[in-house]
Amino acid sequence: MLDNRENMNVVIVGHVDHGKSTIIGRLLADTDSLPDGKLAFVAENCRRNSKPFEYAFLLDALKEEQNQGITIDCARCFFKTKKRNYIIIDAPGHIEFLKNMVSGAARAEAALLVIDATEGVQQNSRRHGYMLSLLGIKQVAVLINKMDLVGYDLYIYEKVKEEYSEFLQKINIHSSFFIPVSGFQGDNVAGKSLNMSWYKGPNVLQVLEGFIAEPILENKPFRMPVQSVYKFTQNGDKRRIIAGTIDSGKVMVGDEIVFYPSGKKTTVKTIEAFNEPTVYSSKAGYATGFTLTDPIYISRGELATKENELKPKVACKIKANIFWLGKEPLKKTKNYYLKLGTAQVGMRLESVIKVIDASTLEEQTKDEIIKNDVAECILTLDKDIAFDLPDDIIETSRFVIVDNFEITGGGIIQESLTDKHSRLKRQVQLRNYRWENSQISRDERAERYNQKSILLFITSSPEIPRKAYAKALERYLFDRGKMVYFLSMGNLQYGIDADIKLSSKNDKSEHFRRLAEVANLMVDAGLILIVTARELSQDDLELIELGVNREVINTVWIGEHVNTDICCDLHIANVLSESEVVNKILLFLQTKGVIFKP
Ligand code: GTP
Ligand code: MG
Repeated sequence: MLDNRENMNVVIVGHVDHGKSTIIGRLLADTDSLPDGKLAFVAENCRRNSKPFEYAFLLDALKEEQNQGITIDCARCFFKTKKRNYIIIDAPGHIEFLKNMVSGAARAEAALLVIDATEGVQQNSRRHGYMLSLLGIKQVAVLINKMDLVGYDLYIYEKVKEEYSEFLQKINIHSSFFIPVSGFQGDNVAGKSLNMSWYKGPNVLQVLEGFIAEPILENKPFRMPVQSVYKFTQNGDKRRIIAGTIDSGKVMVGDEIVFYPSGKKTTVKTIEAFNEPTVYSSKAGYATGFTLTDPIYISRGELATKENELKPKVACKIKANIFWLGKEPLKKTKNYYLKLGTAQVGMRLESVIKVIDASTLEEQTKDEIIKNDVAECILTLDKDIAFDLPDDIIETSRFVIVDNFEITGGGIIQESLTDKHSRLKRQVQLRNYRWENSQISRDERAERYNQKSILLFITSSPEIPRKAYAKALERYLFDRGKMVYFLSMGNLQYGIDADIKLSSKNDKSEHFRRLAEVANLMVDAGLILIVTARELSQDDLELIELGVNREVINTVWIGEHVNTDICCDLHIANVLSESEVVNKILLFLQTKGVIFKP
């Protein structure tokens, strides 16, 4: 299969026992795609065991050979024609298919939907059709199967066709074909049917050949979710390789790259390939690593894009169409994870706009989403993610929902919504985008100063002498050669904050924005920055996190009771002496790897 021909992924769906496996078996047999003697071998096996021959057995026999090393739940079959290579994904149930589709393990560009002529349109025929529409698969051929069992009757075919077309129209699938087939007898699969001379249309194979391969992904805007960042440290090799698989578009040495959600911008210096001659470009579908001209700090989950192309959306509140597969319903009161590309963030269901029964298309208003429901809803995320809308790039608009380590749902983002911090976040993004990068990396500074830079908040109720502790800590660290600075919140009030009043609510958030910007500079310079604040709340902290990388912020609460809603990293409840408090903080800094043990 490793040639340069076009590939096409086609999924086959339909109600249980309507004949999916039989049709695939036929397609393989009639296109000479089976290994020599396979058909005879399986037929002989059936005869010896006095079982009627089934094409599904053929697939089982192939599966054993093909599936070694393939770890997806959908069975995949391959065959090729003069035009292209086909990968047929036999989705045993829609759950497996959905999981593979939204997680990117097996993405289909077209679908065959099988309906048994004797049973007609069933619940799953509709449900699966709905899923195809939701996943953005617009090329669908409906195969009305087992025509041999209904005497190849035109009237029955027309009846099923009429009922199902009506449904497809409602769910916005238009470019569909209807083909009367018998998978078992081979009518209209890869050849012409002599039993249905009334049918003048194309057979299954011809329809497949007529499908259009996905508008070539490499012509779309560049998108590469950052999977990992490899650091080289030996022999003065300071390379950092940003690695991932390119979802769409292409990238070349010299391209200007912008990472989202952060907005950080730089240029591709080299493209690194393992055990291969030097390459200067890479494109959709390829695992790729590149180095950057500036030592900027990028982590897993960011989306690499190109400067002059369509910008992705960035938000922590989204409107989405989701389908739910979990045994437990999706509830507002529970915390979940949302995974999109390589980003994984905490997620909550904020509201349900409507729930749709995928088989009847009935709309309901409900507060929670139960198994097999499809719903339009608003989701809030713990932090921003970068994504696209389905009409732009569908690959980066699909996501999965994880509950207890298990994929329990999936969906497509329909709209990017604003949240209360949107304006501030845009400012920070612009700041990052316009940032003049230094040639000295965070790691180099850490190495030189023998410390990791952090922003350490010391907070407490008013009667606790937090400033004295902070100053003692600063003195201790300074005397041991550390680059440390103590900043009291009050030091900003008559300087940087001279033009605002801390008593007003708007100005309070402006105050935190300014503090975050100051802290960001000092942390960027490599310092251990100690800031004291009275009764810091979670809200205050969130405002600061907009401007300072969350990973470098640490909070210490001193005093018996934490009397705000803050989730602190260290709580010193038992306050005895200054030196004891300092010791406890030092120990904390050591376990965090900020400073080494003496
Ligand atoms: P699941 O994978 O269990 O969902 O079923 P499936 O959709 O793959 O159906 P499968 O191909 O296993 O077919 C189910 C039964 O229908 C088998 O016994 C097939 O032999 C029979 N069958 C499938 N297609 C035809 C057909 O065109 N004509 C006749 N007579 N029987 C068929
Ligand atoms: Mg089957």
